[in-house]
Amino acid sequence: MHRTNKGQAIPGVDVSAQVVNCFRAKYPNISLDKFAHLWVTEPAEKLANRYLEKVGETEDLTHCLRHRFFLESLQEFSVAAKNRVFINIGAGFTNYPHLLNTQIRCCEVDKPSIIKEKQQRLQQLQASQQLPDREILFIPTEDLNNPNKRKKLFNSLSKWVGSCQSFVLIEGVVYWLSQESTYSLFKHLQQIQTAGSLLAVNAFKPRESSKAIFQRLRSFSEDDYCIKNFSPNTLNERFHEHLAGYELIKCANYINLSKQANEAMALDDQESALEEDCYLLRKLMR
Ligand SMILES: C[S@@+](CC[C@H](N)C(=O)[O-])C[C@H]1O[C@@H](n2cnc3c(N)ncnc32)[C@H](O)[C@@H]1O
Repeated sequence: MHRTNKGQAIPGVDVSAQVVNCFRAKYPNISLDKFAHLWVTEPAEKLANRYLEKVGETEDLTHCLRHRFFLESLQEFSVAAKNRVFINIGAGFTNYPHLLNTQIRCCEVDKPSIIKEKQQRLQQLQASQQLPDREILFIPTEDLNNPNKRKKLFNSLSKWVGSCQSFVLIEGVVYWLSQESTYSLFKHLQQIQTAGSLLAVNAFKPRESSKAIFQRLRSFSEDDYCIKNFSPNTLNERFHEHLAGYELIKCANYINLSKQANEAMALDDQESALEEDCYLLRKLMR
């Protein structure tokens, strides 16, 4: 969120984190995020409703499905929490650490404005016992598209991770980054993740960009998040299959996930849903 000279708030990419949280809060039985409602604000809900009207009405459900997929994968990983850590890059207002039964060491990375707001509100929510206490290391980074900021971030992460196995989540973020920054991000991760670590990520395949719903999301990002000349990023599925040092162990799309989660709400029309496929990769060697 930026401000004009007169102090008026201007949305930015960080506001997207509030919007997708409203989607998770709408169907907690599907997203499995029983705490999402705690972060919903009136302006965010209004914007989320405008998003559904302008972009497409399946978007709330698909955001719940991806959260469910990543949470279940993380739950499995965190059962053996000893010597394991969780890193959420572009964490927004997600509640993963609070949704886990096991106290795994957690680190959240995001823009300074989000981190500041989240830390303040977390203090209140934990003090009033609306959220269980969790120790989270917050690392603010101004811009993942900036090579120097990325380098600085990974210097910190590398020290924090040490020789532990890590679960790194990049959810709803690749869309916002340049292709070059995304490749660089994966290169940095290759260096800090030890064998047996997991990398969870979702991204649009290039062919999604020809769908009308994708173009509507792009217009919404420009008009309502005020991101000028926006060029959304996509990732070829072969990229995940051939990422050096990793093996692809799970791949899910929203059509299949919707059938598993709730048959009554199943998505069957590929054109009406924006498919930001979810991938889980395992690190083979350092
Ligand atoms: C759509 S939100 C997703 C948030 C969260 N992962 C979720 O799924 O609810 C995108 C997140 O990526 C972060 N982000 C996007 N571009 C970024 C950049 N260039 N540098 C740092 N963070 C960025 C935003 O601040 C925001 O929290």
